[in-house]
Amino acid sequence: MKGLKLRDADPADRKAILGFCRSTWPEYGDYIPRVWRKWIADKGGRLIVAELDGRPVGMGKISEFSPGEVWLEGLRVDRRYRRQGIARAINLEVLRTVRRMKPRAVRFCTGMTNSATRRMAERHGFRVAARLRYYWQKSRKARVRGTFADRRDLDRLCDFILNSKFLRLTSGLIAEGWIFREFSRALLKRYIYEKRVMVIPKSGTFGGAAIYPSEENDRALTLGFVEGDEPSIRVLAKNCMYLARSQDQPYCSIAVPTRGYARNVEHAGYMRKDSVGQVVYELAGADLKRLSGA
Ligand SMILES: CC(C)(COP(=O)(O)OP(=O)(O)OC[C@H]1O[C@@H](n2cnc3c(N)ncnc32)[C@H](O)[C@@H]1OP(=O)(O)O)[C@@H](O)C(=O)NCCC(=O)NCCS
Repeated sequence: MKGLKLRDADPADRKAILGFCRSTWPEYGDYIPRVWRKWIADKGGRLIVAELDGRPVGMGKISEFSPGEVWLEGLRVDRRYRRQGIARAINLEVLRTVRRMKPRAVRFCTGMTNSATRRMAERHGFRVAARLRYYWQKSRKARVRGTFADRRDLDRLCDFILNSKFLRLTSGLIAEGWIFREFSRALLKRYIYEKRVMVIPKSGTFGGAAIYPSEENDRALTLGFVEGDEPSIRVLAKNCMYLARSQDQPYCSIAVPTRGYARNVEHAGYMRKDSVGQVVYELAGADLKRLSGA
């Protein structure tokens, strides 16, 4: 496209970018203002800006969560310049950058109904790694049930999570709202240290366990993993609302695989009408070799 330039973001782009992001989603606005400073300072990834005749009109963010674990997010094009191939151009620059990072896996998440993004994902050979339902709910004051996991639970919990249906259905990923990280012992250790893991003890083992990260983008508490028997899943889902209130957060969220978890989450007080479908896309293994030109 004539006049289109792709380059690293600059702090001076802030006004123009946040300006057009105000209307990304008409009812909700956008979370970019809350992450802009962090993203621009992130030396491990890259924040790309598309400039048309000198004016910033689009962006895309690349992050590296752990060595070789690449995450893409924040693809945006100013409403006034959409449907002209700008997102396509940003994505090509994103993929060129990613190729140089020699990743093990490249992933991103989008809404089930975001046909533009899904179309671009499939065109570039991404495969669906997980389908989830994301619920939001007001926080509430009530007593949290269960106990926070501690260091002594690490090994047993790690096995419990690795053998869970949840992890099988998410291709090994833990949800942090709209971000998904590869589960690992090191990640679990960090969550335990931060008091983000709760368990329901049951005759020497676990009736259930859940992880409650914070959403990077919304500053809301979220539930990004849950497993166990039905009563435990319901208790742990309710806990999210109560923990959020105890942290003075007005809202909380929950992301669970579409299959097998929705009924218990809805029974715990989350409503279908306040939910959306999420799709996590992944480029890994042989598909990634094509990207690396191997
Ligand atoms: C999604 C978005 C980035 C697309 O930007 P764009 O510059 O208009 O996209 P392009 O013109 O480069 O089109 C890219 C592809 O998406 C398709 N597309 C674009 N908008 C579309 C729409 N509203 N519905 C269906 N397909 C659409 C195009 O046809 C094109 O497909 P093709 O390559 O097969 O021809 C832009 O609409 C946007 O900022 N949306 C809000 C934020 C968002 O949804 N970001 C992604 C979140 S994960």
